[in-house]
Amino acid sequence: MKLTDIISKIEKPKMYENGTAFMWTDEHISKQLLNIHLNSEIDLGSRKKPAIEKTANWILSTQKEKGRLNILDLGCGPGLYTEIFASNGHNVTGVDISKNSIEYAKKSADDKKLEINYINANYLEIDLEADRYDLVVMIFTDFGVLMPSDREILLKMIYHILKKGGTFIFDVLKDNGIEKKVSPKNWEAKDFGFWKETPYIALSQSFLYQDKKVILFQHIIVDTEENIEIYRFWTHFFSRNDVRKIIDAHNFVDIRFRDDILPKSDIWEGDNVIFTMASK
Ligand SMILES: C[S@@+](CC[C@H](N)C(=O)[O-])C[C@H]1O[C@@H](n2cnc3c(N)ncnc32)[C@H](O)[C@@H]1O
Repeated sequence: MKLTDIISKIEKPKMYENGTAFMWTDEHISKQLLNIHLNSEIDLGSRKKPAIEKTANWILSTQKEKGRLNILDLGCGPGLYTEIFASNGHNVTGVDISKNSIEYAKKSADDKKLEINYINANYLEIDLEADRYDLVVMIFTDFGVLMPSDREILLKMIYHILKKGGTFIFDVLKDNGIEKKVSPKNWEAKDFGFWKETPYIALSQSFLYQDKKVILFQHIIVDTEENIEIYRFWTHFFSRNDVRKIIDAHNFVDIRFRDDILPKSDIWEGDNVIFTMASK
């Protein structure tokens, strides 16, 4: 490895240039992530418990008159929302690409005697039955880290599997004060840590693409074998109108927004997050 290799990688990349690695399925990282999801004291991986309960209960309250629902949770993680939906008597399916999270979710549902159908799959490739679901949810602003082409694939799939009159609910980061959301450069050197179980150096930085309302959160991981991995999270920020335009194009109707669901805490919570409800 040449030092110039690292230097070239810390320059601002072209918009949507891919990284070299995918975080959610890495064996070591997915174990670290599961612990982070399950730590109800921090808003990483999953939100804190009061926010999860409030969100899940609000989501169910929007569907009150429909009776027992077929619910699909995309990117369900360890099942923090699916379990609330199932405890309320609904017929619930959770999909996640992380084997580790799905294994945990299955065991947790068994322990609690909840019947939940978990599928370990990529939601961009999954083949689900058409016109089956009353409600599809995608929570913790995952919609905004999809590349626009993947977003199109996802919305097409969701429209296909929703029943007529069914609802898609998801949250996105609001585009207010986007410059304040750029994280400062940061580095760590560890023998064992979030990114690797062997020694590594992590160089983290973020880049603002203001006209596109995108921040790239980038982490370059260099290990003792001199391998370099680049993790990139192209994170989109939206106004209500931006979301409406994207959803409208997929024929969803009755599009509504709420930004008062999450408790206020920092620039990533409270009214900095917009929940969207849209129907087929
Ligand atoms: C930020 S976490 C949120 C988890 C959960 N919704 C919550 O709030 O507790 C994002 C989740 O999406 C999953 N994920 C990311 N990309 C995915 C994909 N293409 N297909 C299925 N799951 C995916 C990750 O494994 C992770 O569990």
